[in-house]
Amino acid sequence: MKIMVLNGSPKRDGSDCMHMTRAFLEGMNSISQNEVHILPVIDRHIEYCKGCLTCMRNGGNCVIDDDMRSILEEILESDLLLFSFPLYGFAMPAPLKALLDRTLPLGKMDMRKVGDRYEHVEQRDFSHLRYIMICGCGFPNAKGNFEGLLRQWRLMFGPDALAITVPEAPMFNAPEAASVTGPFLELVKQAGREYAERGAVTAETLEKLAVPMIPDEVYASIVNGEAGV
Ligand SMILES: Cc1cc2nc3c(=O)[nH]c(=O)nc-3n(C[C@H](O)[C@H](O)[C@H](O)COP(=O)(O)O)c2cc1C
Repeated sequence: MKIMVLNGSPKRDGSDCMHMTRAFLEGMNSISQNEVHILPVIDRHIEYCKGCLTCMRNGGNCVIDDDMRSILEEILESDLLLFSFPLYGFAMPAPLKALLDRTLPLGKMDMRKVGDRYEHVEQRDFSHLRYIMICGCGFPNAKGNFEGLLRQWRLMFGPDALAITVPEAPMFNAPEAASVTGPFLELVKQAGREYAERGAVTAETLEKLAVPMIPDEVYASIVNGEAGV
């Protein structure tokens, strides 16, 4: 399987979230070897969509000549898009959102009704693509933090697209926290294995992944400098 990782952290390989992404991929690759390409989004030249909608009327050619041309082709050649990024302002970081906006040439202006919503009709075939999000954040809360992002994710990629959202993510880059991040990353690896085996992560593993690594008050007090990890 061809996996394209869209690393939306400006910290590139030093990203907290990439610790989870690498563990997930390790789990997947332990079942069967995949071809993985990691794209550090921040390093690519991706201009903002101009909103001209030319691409939706001319067969999918964007008027902007930048890296998005090759990125779109690579997206279409992939089987799985893995979005790895930190939560910024309850949403995805701007460079990644700019990339998503620039996938507009995949659809044409024509609309069709699906259930009670409308969507654009494709002008390139991306029906084979599957989507995963791995997103970490700095607060200890999942509630009151990830809801907006998850709503957008489901609207864009459907109810079955896997989303792993993890609070307390800066701990992944704290060697002192290895006693709690190590077992958590093993769970993420397990999720990767399950995804490779059955195309989904079991409810049991998702439930375990939803448990904070350490209690919220302890995490907050560490951040506030009141205790050592
Ligand atoms: C501009 C900015 C906005 C952020 N917004 C949020 C937020 O809305 N909620 C939250 O819990 N953490 C927020 N954070 C914290 C990051 O999500 C957190 O530090 C994360 O672990 C960084 O992951 P990375 O190392 O993969 O980039 C924000 C950080 C930055 C720099």
